[in-house]
Amino acid sequence: MRPGRWLGIAMLGAGITAFAGQKAQTQTKAQQGETGQQGVPPPAEQEAMRNFLAIGAPPDAEAAKRGQAVFVSTCGFCHGSDATGGATGPDLVRSLVVLHDQGTGKEIGPVVHNGRPGKGMPAFTNLTDAQVHDIAQFLLGRTQAAANRMSYKIQNIVTGDPKAGEAYFSAHCASCHSATGDLAHVATKFEPVKLQSRFLYPKSGGSDESGPADPREQKTVTVTLSSGQTYSGKLNRMDDFSVAMTDAEGQHHSWIFEDEKGINVQVNDPLAKHEELLKQYSDAEMHNILAYLETLK
Ligand code: HEC
Ligand code: HEC
Repeated sequence: MRPGRWLGIAMLGAGITAFAGQKAQTQTKAQQGETGQQGVPPPAEQEAMRNFLAIGAPPDAEAAKRGQAVFVSTCGFCHGSDATGGATGPDLVRSLVVLHDQGTGKEIGPVVHNGRPGKGMPAFTNLTDAQVHDIAQFLLGRTQAAANRMSYKIQNIVTGDPKAGEAYFSAHCASCHSATGDLAHVATKFEPVKLQSRFLYPKSGGSDESGPADPREQKTVTVTLSSGQTYSGKLNRMDDFSVAMTDAEGQHHSWIFEDEKGINVQVNDPLAKHEELLKQYSDAEMHNILAYLETLK
């Protein structure tokens, strides 16, 4: 092997260390997500969860079963047979309409009977009120199952200490956020469960050429070539072999690492701190922070 090639690989290795670190973090995040879904919490916690979410008693098992049958055949194609979203319809387990319906059919009924003309949701005029009620019971069960999986976190929301949360916020969050600025009234913007997931991992969407949904999440990059020339701007894409970016003038640039000996790539991810914090929180800290954020009405 030519010495130049060795050098290239060594440089490449150094250049993408940060990136490999990011991958590891992403994995940790996925693992954390899974931890929250392990096991079924004991009845007392389920009870606390239901009280906290104000979702009342569990559904009537028979009704939910009938509702499931209708749902899978009538709604499943679009919303997914487990209601978490399908070909064209949104996730109903996280729908506010469904959450507020609480198994009654009162909120869901009008949507089912009138549809959402022009938005891809057809009207189902032939479904009886009893059938809608059954579907509502099925969806209630799905909502509760989803909530229960998060119970070890949410249950403690009730016991979190907002004062301690505020102290943590001042120490670890205030460099980027302000309770009277960007996070003012944040608790009115999101339900507690959603608020929790927003601060645990606030990514709003995939990053492609058009960038993430929220520009404040935009990853930026500084590329330094062996000639000393540097390019800074929006990171469009990066993998083990290449990097692509757009500079302030809107010019696209990309480099293949193997062709650019000595290239150095520094990625700045505005959410990296969040991923770091995610690994640091103790359970208590997590719940204190949420209890504090909940005071920002
Ligand atoms: C052909 C696809 C399709 C079918 C079939 C369908 N839906 Fe929908 N549904 C949609 C779409 C698309 C939306 C989102 C409309 C919008 O953007 O407001 C929606 C929205 C909803 C909503 C409101 C969600 C929210 O949070 O705003 C409910 C509730 C709902 N559907 C229930 C049902 C039920 C129950 C059935 C079966 C009886 C059903 N849907 C069948 C496509 C479908
Ligand atoms: C290094 C900067 C930084 C630090 C430190 C930081 N965040 Fe963030 N945070 C961001 C960015 C960037 C976003 C994504 C843009 C946005 O939604 O505000 C974000 C998003 C959020 C959101 C979602 C806001 C929304 O409207 O959707 C919450 C809530 C949040 N952070 C809470 C916290 C808390 C609590 C801490 C401390 C434990 C913290 N952040 C620490 C940078 C930071």
